[in-house]
Amino acid sequence: MTGQRLSEVLDGALAPCLDQLLTPALVIDLDAVQANIAATIARVGGEDRWRPHLKTSKQAVIIDLMLDAGLRHFKVATCDELGLLLRTAGSRAVDVLFCYPAQRASLTAVLALARAHAHARVLVLADSPAHLDAIAAWSRALGHTSPLPVMLDVDLGMHRTGSIPAEWRERPSVPEPLVLAGLHGYDGHLTWAQREQAQLGYDALVELATALCSGPAAPAPSTLELVTSGTHSYAHALDHPGLRAGAWRHSVSPGTIVLSDRRSHAAERDIGLRQAAFVATRVISAGPDRVTLDAGSKAIAPDVSPPSCAIVDHGELEPQRASEEHLPCRVQPGAASPELGRLLWLIPEHVCTTVNLYREAVWIRGGRYVGVGPVGASGHGCGLPDTSLVKPPREG
Ligand SMILES: Cc1ncc(COP(=O)(O)O)c(C=O)c1O
Repeated sequence: MTGQRLSEVLDGALAPCLDQLLTPALVIDLDAVQANIAATIARVGGEDRWRPHLKTSKQAVIIDLMLDAGLRHFKVATCDELGLLLRTAGSRAVDVLFCYPAQRASLTAVLALARAHAHARVLVLADSPAHLDAIAAWSRALGHTSPLPVMLDVDLGMHRTGSIPAEWRERPSVPEPLVLAGLHGYDGHLTWAQREQAQLGYDALVELATALCSGPAAPAPSTLELVTSGTHSYAHALDHPGLRAGAWRHSVSPGTIVLSDRRSHAAERDIGLRQAAFVATRVISAGPDRVTLDAGSKAIAPDVSPPSCAIVDHGELEPQRASEEHLPCRVQPGAASPELGRLLWLIPEHVCTTVNLYREAVWIRGGRYVGVGPVGASGHGCGLPDTSLVKPPREG
C-alpha cells in the first residue's frame, strides 16, 4: 500500500462491492482500530489504566478487539451500550461504570443487566448527595440488597453533571447497599492546550479523595479508583503526580481515540492515531463550482459548526452547511469537479455522534472489504418489552 493515497486504499477495499453499496455508509478500518487500541494502551501505561468510553464505538466487533487487547474496564452512557458490552464480553469478567446519572427506570435496567451477568462488576454514578440517596432508596425498593459500587461524580468545571468537591466533602459516607468505589471527574470542557487548568481540577479531585479516605470508618485508598479525562485531556492526567502517586487506582477514559476524528489532532500527534472511521459518499449533483454529496446531517453529525467533515484527498472541495440528505461542497476556482457518482471519503469532525446515526457498519481489514455488521448500541432503546397491542402492518 506504500505510496498509495488514502482514498485509493479505501476505494480499492470497497471495489468488489461498489455495485451494491448504498451510500452514505459508515466504514470502519479494523486494522486502524486495533492499532489505536494498542497505541493507547502503550501510551497510558497498561490495560488497567484505560477505561474506554464505549459511546464512540458502539459496536460488538470493536468491543471484541478491546477485550482481545486485554482491556477489562469500560464506561458506558446508555443501557444499550451496557447490554452490548455484557453480551459481547460473555464469560470474560468486565468492570463497567454506568457513567450517567441513573433514574429509577434506567437503574432498574442496569440492575437487571448486572444480575444477568453475575461475573461482571457494574458500577453506578452518583450525581449529587441527593442522587446518592435516591439510588440507594431505589435499589432497596427494587430488592437489590447486595453491595452496589458507586462512584461520585465530581464537577471539575465542566458544569454538566456532578457536584463540586465541597459538596461531596459534606457527605463522607454512602448509604447501603451502595459501596464507595471511587471518584469520577470528567473534564470534557478542556482542550489539549489547557494543561494548567486540567491539573488544578485533578488537584481538587486528589484532595477530595484524600479527605474521603481519612477518618476511622473511611475506605482505604487502595479500594478506590479515580477516573478522569477523555481524548482531549488524558495527557494532562497521566502526568499529574497526585493521580499517579496515590494508593488508589487512576484511569483515564478516552473513547474517541479508538476511531479518531477531525478534532483528535493532538492525540493523533501524541500517539500516532490512525483514522479508523469514514463515511463513504457519492457525488449526486454537480453545478458550477459546486458538487453535492449524499451525506447530509443524517449521515455526518451536525453538532459542530460547518464544515462537519473533511474530504479525504480532496482539499479542493469545501463542505458547506448540510441539509438532511445533501452536503453541498464548493469547488475551489480552477479545480476540476469530481464526476457524478464518484465515491468520496469523509472524515467526521465528531465521530461519536456520527457513528450513532448508523444501524450498520462496513468493515475493512488488510485493505479489503471483510463484511458488514450492526452498530449494536446506536440510538436509544426505550427498554419496554414488546407487548404492543397495536400490531405493526406486515411488510411486503
Ligand atoms: C463522561 C465521559 N467520559 C469520557 C468521555 C470520552 O471522551 P472523548 O470522547 O473525548 O474521548 C466522554 C465524552 O463525551 C464523557 O462524556
